[in-house]
Formats: sequence, C-alpha cells, structure tokens
Amino acid sequence: MKILVTGGAGFIGSQVAQAYVEAGHQVTVLDNLSTGKLENLPPQAEFVEADITSPQAAELVADGGFQVINHHAAQISVPASVIDPMNDAQSNVLGLLNLLEAGRHAKLERFIFVSSGGAVYGEMQGVPVDESFPARPMSPYAVAKRAGELYLDYYWLQHGLASVVLRYANVYGPRQIPHAEAGVVAIFMDCLMQGDEATIYCPGDLPGGMKRDYTYVGDIVRANLAALQRGQGIYNIGTGVATDTMTLWEAMKKAAGQDAPHCIGPARAGDIRYSALNCAKAAQELGWTPQSDLADGLAQTWAWRKKQ
Ligand SMILES: NC(=O)c1ccc[n+]([C@@H]2O[C@H](COP(=O)([O-])OP(=O)(O)OC[C@H]3O[C@@H](n4cnc5c(N)ncnc54)[C@H](O)[C@@H]3O)[C@@H](O)[C@H]2O)c1
Repeated sequence: MKILVTGGAGFIGSQVAQAYVEAGHQVTVLDNLSTGKLENLPPQAEFVEADITSPQAAELVADGGFQVINHHAAQISVPASVIDPMNDAQSNVLGLLNLLEAGRHAKLERFIFVSSGGAVYGEMQGVPVDESFPARPMSPYAVAKRAGELYLDYYWLQHGLASVVLRYANVYGPRQIPHAEAGVVAIFMDCLMQGDEATIYCPGDLPGGMKRDYTYVGDIVRANLAALQRGQGIYNIGTGVATDTMTLWEAMKKAAGQDAPHCIGPARAGDIRYSALNCAKAAQELGWTPQSDLADGLAQTWAWRKKQ
C-alpha cells in the first residue's frame, strides 16, 4: 500500500513508519520537525518537511495517491494546550481537517487517527474503562483529540471514509523525549543516567502516586499494523494494568541495575489519579493484545538509552 505517516519523525510515528516499510509498504513521512528528528526517519521512506496545516500538506494528500493516512503529527503537550488553546487547535483540529478534506477528494480509503485514552476519558473510578465510558476531556489537548474522533465518525457516515481511532494509554520506549504527554519514563531514565534525584508526585492519600497504564511502543506499533486491515471506530490501546509512580520508579531501577535518590513532591493540579484501559474490543476486532510486560519494556528502553 501507499501510506502517508504524519509525525513520522517523532517517537511513535517513526517506529510505525519503520514497521510499515518492513511490511513492504511504500511510505511517505510528513513532519514539520517541531519535536521530531531527521535521524528517526526510516531511510527507505520518502520525507516531506511541511506543516499539516499547510497548503503543501493538502497538495501532497491530493496528488500522492495514498490509500492510507496514519496520523501521528500533533501538538502533544497538555500544559502547552492549556496556555495556548488556539495554537493546539490549529494543529490538532484544523491540521486534521486539512488532511481529511484533501483525502476525501483524493479518494483515500482509510484514515488511522491517534487519540489519547489517558486524556479523553478524564478521571476514572479505579477500574480500567472500555470505549463506552463517557469521554470527559479536562484539557484543550483532550478536547481537540475528542473533536478529531467525532470528525472521523462524520467522514465515515457522510463520505464513507473508513477510519480507525487508536486511543493510546501512556506510551513509553526508545526515542521518547522527556516532558512530552507521558514522558515520565524518559524523565526517570535521565535521572538514573545522571544520578539526579527523581521526584514522585503524590497526593496525601496515594502514597505511591498516580496510577497509569504504561504501554510499550512495540505493542503500539503492532496495533498500527493491525489497523491497516481491520477495524472501524474507536479502540483503546493499552495493557489494562495500572502502575503507580513509585512502583514504576522501583521497576526502572531494577531494569537499569542502578540506584538514584528520589523525593516526594505534592500532587500537581489537574493530574488524573487513575488511568487504565480495557482493551477487549481491540482484541476482538483488531486481533491485537499487548505482549510486553513492564519489566521487558523498561529493559529494552534502558538498553536503548544507554547507547545514546
Ligand atoms: N506519547 C504518548 O504517551 C501518547 C499518548 C497518547 C497519544 N499520543 C499521540 O501520539 C502521537 C505521537 O506522539 P509522540 O509521543 O510520538 O510525540 P512526538 O512529539 O515525538 O511526535 C509528534 C511528531 O509530529 C510532528 N508534528 C507536530 N506538529 C506538527 C505539525 N503541525 N505538522 C507536521 N508535523 C508536526 C513533530 O515534529 C513530531 O515528529 C500524537 O498524536 C500524540 O498526541 C501519544
């Protein structure tokens, strides 16, 4: 297939683009390099440096003959979206529409859109949620992701454009940069590498800190391979296991075989206390289940980090 991967110079998109190349597809990457890096690009992929909101991006989609767009490009910082919601919507809503409108006229067959299970559901009640749990976005970033999902439903209903929405949990793995949407693993790796103190943010009643569904990027890549052929609609992509920050820190020290000090910080405003995804629908309809456990994933991420 001829596939356009947006954000294909970034942490996750570059590994999806690489897997598509390895599966024999003809891949073009569209990226403005705002956070992505040239060195992440698969050498066999064609690269177009442009913004997803630009006329150049629309022309690429209109004339490129793509059967599939896999859309990873986004403004990814939740705090940045709170400070400047218009800038967030520019990329995450208008950029998406730019691609969809061009794709509709180009007779695109399938659109894979990356949303965020960690963001769109808002606070959960201590059990992994499935896709029927009501969305309650608590940041402009989450609102824009939810809007994207609704636009895709509209293009499916009104224009017959098939789409798969992947609601990722907290993704970690090689190439992740700290301080992104879910950068705690990358931040902790930096602390271990440099012997710096790690801060674990804990509300008084949660001594281990907030709980998150940490999902290895290799599993995320396999979901993107499955979504090329199967599925329609929204799918949670995570492990269903909620790990608190202290347990993550201990697991990481073990994976690294190294120690570093930590301190406890106060809970941060707006931080969701518990987030984990029930992925039974992805298992049933995409034939996808996560395969890496936390210890495996952290060991692979540490091995990569040590080489940097
Ligand atoms: N990392 C996570 O845990 C996580 C969780 C849920 C969803 N996501 C989503 O996954 C996708 C990829 O995230 P990532 O963690 O790999 O981040 P990343 O910053 O490494 O990747 C984003 C890529 O998009 C490019 N980009 C950004 N804005 C662009 C624009 N306007 N035009 C063209 N290119 C642009 C960047 O240069 C970068 O290469 C995003 O859509 C993000 O919202 C990530």
